[in-house]
This record gives sequence, C-alpha cells and structure tokens, in this order.
Amino acid sequence: MTSNTGLQLVNRDEGGVDLAFRADVLAGLAAPQKAIPARWFYDDVGSQLFEDITQLPEYYPTRAEAAILAGQSGEIADLVGPGRAVVEFGSGSSVKTPLLLSAIQPSAYVPLDIAGDFLRASSAALAAKFPGLPVHPVEADFMRRVELPVEVANLSKLGFFPGSTIGNMIARTATDLLRSMRETLGEGALLLIGMDLVKDEDVLLAAYDDAAGVTAQFNLNLLTRINHELDGDIPVGAFRHEARWNDTFARIEMHLVAGTDVTFSVSEQTFTMRAGESIHTENSHKFTIRSSQTLLAAGGWEPRARWTDEGKQFSLLLAEACAPRSAP
Ligand code: AVJ
Repeated sequence: MTSNTGLQLVNRDEGGVDLAFRADVLAGLAAPQKAIPARWFYDDVGSQLFEDITQLPEYYPTRAEAAILAGQSGEIADLVGPGRAVVEFGSGSSVKTPLLLSAIQPSAYVPLDIAGDFLRASSAALAAKFPGLPVHPVEADFMRRVELPVEVANLSKLGFFPGSTIGNMIARTATDLLRSMRETLGEGALLLIGMDLVKDEDVLLAAYDDAAGVTAQFNLNLLTRINHELDGDIPVGAFRHEARWNDTFARIEMHLVAGTDVTFSVSEQTFTMRAGESIHTENSHKFTIRSSQTLLAAGGWEPRARWTDEGKQFSLLLAEACAPRSAP
C-alpha cells in the first residue's frame, strides 16, 4: 500500500456514526427541496443492489459500455499505446476493468477509492487475474488531487472513469473533478471516460424504474440505512420510488415521494413532509456529443476519440490533458 494508507478517511463519533453521512442527511432534510447526495446509497446492501441493477434487462449502460470495450479493444490499444499506468477512479468493476487491462499492455494498475474494504477486495481479485501486473491500490477521496504511488511516478497515465459516474454530478462538481483528475494524472495523461447518452424518455425512465422493482429497493434502502445508522424512525413504507426526466438539465432524477403526511426523527431532529413532497436522491445526467465535448473542455481535456455501442445508447471517450490556453 502507499503513503495514503494511514489516512483516516471516514470520521466517526464515539458511537461509530459516520459524521459526514449525518451532516449530509441533516442538512439535506432541512432544505426546502429535501435532497441527499447519491454517494450514500452504497452501504453493503446498496452496493449489492446496484450490482443487481446492472443485470436488469432495462438497465442498458453496463452492458453497452462493456460491449464497446470488448468490440473496440484494438483501436483503444492503438491510441493508448503500451506501458501506461492505468489509474481507475473507483474500485473497479469485475467486468470492465479486466476488459481494459487485457486490451492494452499496462505497466501498472492503480485503483483509487474512498471505501478501503471494496478497494482491497477488488484489488486482490484483479491481481490474481493479472499475475505480473503491479497493482497499487490507494485509499483516497478522488474528488481532490491524489498523490499517486512513487512506483508509477515515471509512467505516463491513463485515467479510467467508466459507468457514466460523472453523470451523477452537476456541471460544476463534474468540472472540478475533471480538473483534479488532470492534476492527479499529470502531463501527457489520457482519460477514458464513459458517458451515457440522451435517448428516448421511455427507455431512460424504464432503466431507472425497472419492472422487478430493484431500483425502487435501491432508492428506498437509503431510508433504511438512515434509520439504522443515524437512529432514525422514518416510516419507509410511506415512501415510494420515483424516476423523473428533467429535460432542462438532461437528467434522470430519482426521488423518494411521501405518500401521506409524515413526521419522523433522525439523530434527535424532527422533520415533517406533506403527502406528495419528495426527497431528491440522485441525478444521472445524460449527454450528447456536444455536451460531452463541452464538459470535457471545461475540465481541461480534449477529446481524441469517441465510440458508441451498436444501439447508440452509451459513449466511451478518450481525451487528452490539454495545455491551458486563453486564445482560440
Ligand atoms: C452508478 C451512477 C452510473 O446513474 O446510472 C443506477 C447509479 N442509479 N440506477 C446511474 C444508478 C439508479 C448509476 N451510476
């Protein structure tokens, strides 16, 4: 492991409560439009439910992106070249990461994640699959610049950010992240990033409100998690899952809508909601060729190549860190 290993990333009080989680939930429930950041979906149950989502017939992004990686591996390898350190933002998926690592000839693999347990588990699995490939996991919050392990200091980098996770962020946060990725990866870096495309509204709504109700469970699990971890008494059964298309921002929003007037408490604070009022729990922005180009440029990245799956549902972009300039 690296110099970052000793860092205390999760701050807990004496009772074991994650203080950032509590602060986000209490502030979010006090706002006029109640809202909780999507990152809190991923406790153990939530992470498993997300894995289940990726297998659903309606949820196309994971399959579409894996198909691009598999089908375009030759072209990706040609453009990326051998010998780079692959720096993945997030612990890595058991399907997509091996597709990339076997497509190119990397000299090292550096997964970055704030969740140390997932990081160690997925790193061990990858190291077993790619004997001879040095794996250097770093436990870090990649929303800020990360100090990479000395072992990869002299290698050029390929950032990997699949899944359209960038779509969870509003434009300002996404831009901040792209800029800090640029700082983390250094000069001459490339970035391979997945971005989900704008498409027929019915297809999008179905992907976020599946017939089997798994996405509903995933969304509602946030309330169960709050009850368990933050001493809450939210009547989970009074809420229903809703996916909405917000056309102004080109995004799917997930909400938890109260079916009746409700009063509940969390960490000894009381909240009330009227029937029909919602807690906004996720944004999942969808992109066009132009909007993805604009976002990458705002973050300091110049697109070099772009691939889509056969159904034109999802796009994978390769971008290069560009020198800052003010003139056209
Ligand atoms: C993991 C953020 C890419 O936005 O599609 C799936 C999460 N939420 N179904 C997405 C998610 C509801 C997913 N990301």
